Amino acid sequence: MNQKARANSDIKDHSLAAAGELRVQWASREMPVLELIQKRFAKNKPLKGIRISACLHITTETANLALTLKAGGAQLALCASNPLSTQDDAAAYLVVKENIPVFAIKGEDNKTYYRHINSALENKPHITMDDGADLVATIHKDRKQLLSDIIGGTEETTTGVIRLRSLEQSRKLKYPIIAVNDAQTKHFFDNRYGTGQSTIDGITRATNILWAGKKVIICGYGWCGRGVAMRAKGLGAHVIVCEVEPIRALEAVMDGYQVMPLIEAARIGDIFITVTGGMSIIDEKHMKAMKDGAIVANSGHFNVEINIPALEKLATSKRQIRGSVEEYTLSSKKRIYLLGEGRLINLAAAEGHPASVMDMSFANQALCAEYMVKRGKSLKKIVYPVPEEVDKEVGKLKLNAMGIAIDTLTPEQRKYLASWEAGT
Ligand code: ADE
Repeated sequence: MNQKARANSDIKDHSLAAAGELRVQWASREMPVLELIQKRFAKNKPLKGIRISACLHITTETANLALTLKAGGAQLALCASNPLSTQDDAAAYLVVKENIPVFAIKGEDNKTYYRHINSALENKPHITMDDGADLVATIHKDRKQLLSDIIGGTEETTTGVIRLRSLEQSRKLKYPIIAVNDAQTKHFFDNRYGTGQSTIDGITRATNILWAGKKVIICGYGWCGRGVAMRAKGLGAHVIVCEVEPIRALEAVMDGYQVMPLIEAARIGDIFITVTGGMSIIDEKHMKAMKDGAIVANSGHFNVEINIPALEKLATSKRQIRGSVEEYTLSSKKRIYLLGEGRLINLAAAEGHPASVMDMSFANQALCAEYMVKRGKSLKKIVYPVPEEVDKEVGKLKLNAMGIAIDTLTPEQRKYLASWEAGT
């Protein structure tokens, strides 16, 4: 064990490393695309000498990404992208067995969270890897002296991409970013099937409720909301969607859901799930309208979708009734149950997205890091999409790994599709 990595880390418990190693290996079984990339990286070392600071959920899947980047020659430092999402055994494994510095402890307070971000930045990154844009924001606000070394960054999630586009639009973005979230092989799968399954998993582990027959209110019908709605419906819930964007609302209607304003849904819902990326979606007026026993959870990136300060004010008492469940009693004696402190419930109360979808998300991350090293110096200080060839390659590799063959166009069909002359 490397004493330097140990000293240069802040994790919960080094003795969890062996358990972490087994779980990281288990996750790797479902990450064949990343494994292929890892093998190529180990041979070609495309990240040799490159320092990467990564602010990601520290999970067994992220550990496999870290191993891939390390195999490519990168010098890594990792910190958590959410105070409640760290898997302490995965963190211990990376530090103790892989000598990768990690700054992340499940349940850390906000001050520690930012101290950890700053510690990961001590790595003086050439590349930043974000899930929510906190590294980029910290560099732009407080650590500008790091900019001279930075080639570029990648961003994993919708909320982070929105923040970075805002930085770009205000002409303050200081280095190029690739929006990994926007790759088709990322958001079609991770956001939809990953969030869909892991959100239901988190709420089930936290509460052990039966979904069948429940009225489930989904706030937001983006890719994540679509996924959660689909899975809740599959379990027999009566799903109601609340959405501010008219075309998405229409899509929800035609997907077979009831659609209504949240204030109406508030009166009838049993379980409320926010997946919007916005703030104060579930506000005081909604909580006042809820039934006794309503369960409230968030699966969006930040813990601002449920107005928790308003809930605290409305409540006359609160108690922790189960691991990830707080019971708030209002003056009317009504009880509202808040899950996972309003933080993303799939990681706070479960294990996040299954490895099989993170395989594609993190294959994009690894390939985009390689792309940044090759092309970063020629890129502008804007937010870029994932190069199409990378996205397509990830999709092809995943299909291959799943043993699924597909058809190809004949030359004649290709010619037909490229022409305009032929009509009826
Ligand atoms: N985001 C959602 N699920 C995740 C996971 N399992 N690992 C890393 N980031 C995630």
